[in-house]
Amino acid sequence: MNKEVRHLTNIEELSVDEIDDLIKVANDIIANPNKYKDKCNGKILATLFFEPSTRTRLSFESAMLRLGGNVLGFSEANSSSVAKGESLSDTIQVVGGYADIIAMRHYKEGAPLVACNKSSIPIINAGDGGHNHPTQTLTDLLTINREKKRLNNLVIGLCGDLKFGRTVHSLITAMSRYKNIKFILISPKELELPEYVKKEVLEKNNIEYIETNNIEEYMSRLDILYMTRVQKERFFNEADYIRLKDYYILDKNKLKNAKDDLCIMHPLPRVNEISTDVDNDPRSKYFLQAKYGVYIRMALILKLLEVK
Ligand code: NCD
Repeated sequence: MNKEVRHLTNIEELSVDEIDDLIKVANDIIANPNKYKDKCNGKILATLFFEPSTRTRLSFESAMLRLGGNVLGFSEANSSSVAKGESLSDTIQVVGGYADIIAMRHYKEGAPLVACNKSSIPIINAGDGGHNHPTQTLTDLLTINREKKRLNNLVIGLCGDLKFGRTVHSLITAMSRYKNIKFILISPKELELPEYVKKEVLEKNNIEYIETNNIEEYMSRLDILYMTRVQKERFFNEADYIRLKDYYILDKNKLKNAKDDLCIMHPLPRVNEISTDVDNDPRSKYFLQAKYGVYIRMALILKLLEVK
């Protein structure tokens, strides 16, 4: 790996202090956007998306444009030379001559690590298979910080597809470094959090967690409820997906015992897991969360490009 270039493939690569700094910068960008509008003049972000995306790709592009930079890239593997059989490491070496920083999403777990080994410019993992999604986690941390005014002392319910949901794996990894965090892991048996996350993150850091398949059981204790979509594209068998896809549908009734200051989050896209009648509940923060994604990505681009 090129030692001088700083990449982001896994949220663990950022220290808690660095995350605090990114949140500070993002808050400053929200308060003073004009201060930042020319920070990346002349710089180019390449978005290489080998898997579908709306928010992540567009928020990266919006982030670079709001910093005064430019963007190029592709939004599906079929429209790139991958369709002709080009390897990822060749694509990355070529794009290194066209851009200053890369945001990439790939369907294979670990693909960003392969890319970093060959890259002369910073690479940001914008989601690799069912593995990690560090910039969604930065978005989630900014949202929690702004909405709850703290990242410590929280009971966090994670609900839905905890097995394939990469945003869940990265969020648990990040939150496990803060004080007095408890997780309520709400999923059907088939979509439980992978053993490696339980062992290597939760148990290793002595984090308290409870597993349940009942969304209402611990509702009254939650400070955060993080809903997720059942990840259709990671299923081997369509019948299993159909059986599990509507396992949880959060509606007003299920929230009857929830705290008044519960923060309801979702990385989006939503399918059926939150009923639209919850959207106008003041505790619903998922659209705001999507918006915050731009500011934290602006802060991250500035950091990796070492713009002062
Ligand atoms: C998530 C992802 O791609 O993992 N979406 C996103 O980036 N906001 C969640 C999902 O697709 O369910």
